[in-house]
Amino acid sequence: MRIRRTKDLDTKLIKYEHLLIKDPKSIKERFDQRPLELEIGFGKGEFLIEMARRNPQTNYLGIDKYSELFYSAARQVGELDNILFMTGSVEDFLPQMEEGLFSGLYLNFSDPWPKDRHHKRRLTYRSFLKAYDRVLKKGSVVQIKTDNVILFESTLQELALVDKQVYDLSWDIQNDLSWKDSIPTYYEKRFTELGQKIMGLRYRS
Ligand SMILES: C[S@@+](CC[C@H](N)C(=O)[O-])C[C@H]1O[C@@H](n2cnc3c(N)ncnc32)[C@H](O)[C@@H]1O
Repeated sequence: MRIRRTKDLDTKLIKYEHLLIKDPKSIKERFDQRPLELEIGFGKGEFLIEMARRNPQTNYLGIDKYSELFYSAARQVGELDNILFMTGSVEDFLPQMEEGLFSGLYLNFSDPWPKDRHHKRRLTYRSFLKAYDRVLKKGSVVQIKTDNVILFESTLQELALVDKQVYDLSWDIQNDLSWKDSIPTYYEKRFTELGQKIMGLRYRS
């Protein structure tokens, strides 16, 4: 995602500090008892914010690398009381997170890292899948959407390697009833406008 640099970002972020979690060990105490779901790579944030709006009985945590994206998402939160964010690389946070913290996980249009030599950086590489399993409650749904065939096919291979059963597998979610309620992300809207097919899958931790 192209990041537009924001002038005086640190000053502008002060207003939204209450929406930010800095210490991965403090995630649980920052939320109430509602089940907690995670999106990794929230981008502009519209998917997670719409999820929070539609599902007030669930809490949401979004993680993305860039503070600029947190700023963009935080400005849309308004009165919602069920959404918080972290900024940084998820791989730095995962080992410090408590086991069984999350009841769901969303990976929307993760960076595809199409070159073979970068395959371990994909957020669906086996080491990531194992790390997700540790922080997810058993039986939680993981939902993955992408426009990228290389990423999608490698994700299927990685899931097979860690013995995960995929369901709702679709090579074209726009024409698939199991995906009709899925909220489109910023990237999804862009790729759909360009006529590209969007792929999706779900599995349980
Ligand atoms: C291609 S964009 C997709 C954004 C959004 N999910 C969408 O569908 O519109 C990928 C996003 O993942 C974030 N990202 C990539 N690698 C990450 C990592 N290791 N940890 C946290 N966020 C990451 C990027 O900063 C970027 O915002």
